[in-house]
Amino acid sequence: MKELLVLYYSRYGAVKQMAQLVARGVEQGGQCIARLRTVPKVSAVCEATERAVPDEGAPYVELRDLEECSGLALGSPTRFGNMAAPLKYFWDSTSEIWLKGALVGKPAAVFTSSASLHGGQETTLVSMMLPLLHHGMLIIGLPYTEPELFTTASGGTPYGPSHHSGVANDRPISDHERNLCLALGRRLAEIASKLER
Ligand SMILES: Cc1cc2nc3c(=O)[nH]c(=O)nc-3n(C[C@H](O)[C@H](O)[C@H](O)COP(=O)(O)O)c2cc1C
Repeated sequence: MKELLVLYYSRYGAVKQMAQLVARGVEQGGQCIARLRTVPKVSAVCEATERAVPDEGAPYVELRDLEECSGLALGSPTRFGNMAAPLKYFWDSTSEIWLKGALVGKPAAVFTSSASLHGGQETTLVSMMLPLLHHGMLIIGLPYTEPELFTTASGGTPYGPSHHSGVANDRPISDHERNLCLALGRRLAEIASKLER
């Protein structure tokens, strides 16, 4: 069965919850399974090192995860309207597979969470697409045939699912946000299956 990589960074847990929903969506169609991975924090102290396996949660991603999987969903908190540094740091280590063209033609999608409703969700999602386009991936968004895109009063964009977490990060994922995460996972799995046929 095809595997799709759901790769995320999450400091306070919101993007982690979204990643789990996207992964559930990936598996709902019964044609793909999700491989959930995260990245370690980065530090200004060059000597600081993380253990190879995190204490809890998803394992840290390796380049082979990108090579082995048939598609990618990438999730990051909004950081000043951009993707979080740990994820950017990871992408900066992918030259080896970029040179091989290992990701060319694979479908990819993005999702994010931000504290304020208009705090840069769309710009973050677009910033996350840029390295994926350089890798030759086929970007997938959410079409307006998903009714929640019209009715949401919190997160949810055609560029990818989003969550409005609140300044204290205490807003739960709304039903609309949740359904859009699931829809993205399903859509990614459907398109990955069609592309590989
Ligand atoms: C350094 C930093 C920069 C941030 N920048 C923004 C921002 O530009 N806009 C916004 O709405 N929230 C911003 N936030 C808040 C996070 O995006 C928000 O809390 C998010 O839901 C956290 O996701 P997580 O729970 O997966 O870590 C920022 C947080 C940090 C730590």
